[in-house]
Amino acid sequence: MENFFELIAKRESCRDYSEKQVDTEILRKCIEAARIAPSACNSQPWSFTVVNNSGLSPKVAKCLQELGMNKFTDKCPAFVVVTEEEATLIARIGGKAKNQEYASIDIGLATAHLVLAAAEQGLSTCIIGMFNERQRKEMLDIPKQKRIRLVIAAGYAATDKIREKNRKNLEDISRFM
Ligand SMILES: Cc1cc2nc3c(=O)[nH]c(=O)nc-3n(C[C@H](O)[C@H](O)[C@H](O)COP(=O)(O)O)c2cc1C
Repeated sequence: MENFFELIAKRESCRDYSEKQVDTEILRKCIEAARIAPSACNSQPWSFTVVNNSGLSPKVAKCLQELGMNKFTDKCPAFVVVTEEEATLIARIGGKAKNQEYASIDIGLATAHLVLAAAEQGLSTCIIGMFNERQRKEMLDIPKQKRIRLVIAAGYAATDKIREKNRKNLEDISRFM
């Protein structure tokens, strides 16, 4: 097992997947990691639909390809669809009072847990925010009134080369007082 800093260095968005299929047990552990993520008032405003099915996965991929984007998902064997669920009353009141979108923050945190748990198990991922939400809901039987917030593509990378991270400098994004 690597340490946390090695793990976050290893995690990157994968846009080239091999043919290798994913064991659903590995995806279950990823959801377990998301399940224990922190959330405002412990509201846990999320649910996860795992698609790891040679019949359904290609159809999900097509919903991610609006405007010619995300073509790489054709080769991706599995997806996790992250749906926003109703936050607890206290979290909603707190968010209104403080003018904060706590549910979005919470879902981002759960997603971070999920993709890092995947990386820890050797599984590559790509978080996807551009998709056809209506088609997806119909296909996966997700009620119309709910919002799909993210889709996570998951599979095994075609190469094990890790790219250098392209990020702002620490000095440009931080202040130590
Ligand atoms: C909310 C969100 C939405 C994203 N949507 C897409 C997307 O639709 N397609 C895609 O290829 N990558 C998408 N990404 C991946 C980002 O482009 C990627 O995380 C960023 O460029 C940093 O690169 P890295 O993940 O390889 O470190 C998304 C990431 C986030 C957090």
